Amino acid sequence: MSKEKEETVCVTGGSGYIGSWLVRLLLDRGYTVHATVKDIKNEGETKHLEALEGAESRLRLFQIDLLDYDSIAAAINGAVGVFHLASPCIVDKVQDPEKELLQPAITGTINVLTAAKESGVRRVVVTSSISAITPSPSWPADVIKDENCWTDLDYCTQNELWYPASKTLAEKAAWEFAKEKGLDVVVLNPGTVMGPILPPVLNASMLMIFRLLKGCTEVYENFFMGSVHVKDVALAYILLYENQSASGRHICVEAISHYGDFAAKVAELYPEYKVPRLPKDTQPGLLRVKNASKKLIDLGLQFTSMEQIIKDSVESLKSKGFIA
Ligand SMILES: NC(=O)c1ccc[n+]([C@@H]2O[C@H](COP(=O)([O-])OP(=O)(O)OC[C@H]3O[C@@H](n4cnc5c(N)ncnc54)[C@H](OP(=O)(O)O)[C@@H]3O)[C@@H](O)[C@H]2O)c1
Repeated sequence: MSKEKEETVCVTGGSGYIGSWLVRLLLDRGYTVHATVKDIKNEGETKHLEALEGAESRLRLFQIDLLDYDSIAAAINGAVGVFHLASPCIVDKVQDPEKELLQPAITGTINVLTAAKESGVRRVVVTSSISAITPSPSWPADVIKDENCWTDLDYCTQNELWYPASKTLAEKAAWEFAKEKGLDVVVLNPGTVMGPILPPVLNASMLMIFRLLKGCTEVYENFFMGSVHVKDVALAYILLYENQSASGRHICVEAISHYGDFAAKVAELYPEYKVPRLPKDTQPGLLRVKNASKKLIDLGLQFTSMEQIIKDSVESLKSKGFIA
């Protein structure tokens, strides 16, 4: 990757878990960054960003609401590239799925893409998720789930899986917009993102490993998780932005393992915590996803191992005082 970029780019959701890492790497590479936050008066959203190296001269914060087009347009104005991350990340039950998840994810994406198109942005990297690839129960069992696979929206509705529904519908809306309006869009589909924490709060994916370490026995039946290091995800965005040849969807996972196998690995590495024994898969999940992230590997991404992801996550949870 080239160094010392003098471009201005916008990161929506810059205050979040992944967003903060992306802002950090972009500043390190010389970019000027417009990062969006939901509440600019809340130090919990701003202080960790303002503390980053290069922030004083090259970081500008903008308050946005995903449903307020003008606030988004102001943040994107002057940027040549956009990384769209802002989206509600609620995997637990919600009262009003339309208002809490679907609307901000879908309308927010359209607002960001419209503002990007209006201001002549060169490329937008949209954050989707592995949740827009699976659950996909009708996908043939003997065919690897790759970027051709889409989450089954009827299955999501029947099972009230509103987060995967929100990511799937938002990604579909992004592709439709890109095609209709001729905007250059590439999509990143990360798995379960873990690793060192920059913001002062825990996001949904770090809550998973936090809960495991606290002995939570909540069982995710048939849940295969695609672990990926947060720094690798941040690098993946930059690779997709800087490599003009990148196109389409990009699964971003180091490994896919059954949740029970993941929990067993955490227990093995950290026997001092009461990590519960959970049902394990009967087949080696990794075999099924050989080359899952081939597109990103071909662009030069070297994925951190699952063991290191777990170690970096636990050490960060300790050093930030989330666990003793
Ligand atoms: N973490 C994962 O494992 C994972 C995996 C795949 C995809 N993703 C996707 O990656 C992106 C970032 O996720 P994350 O894990 O970093 O979660 P996060 O820490 O919760 O970050 C989400 C960001 O979106 C902002 N946001 C949410 N609703 C908003 C609204 N209505 N208006 C303006 N901003 C809003 C949040 O602002 P506040 O901080 O003010 O709430 C925050 O900056 C999301 O699109 C998520 O779906 C995450």
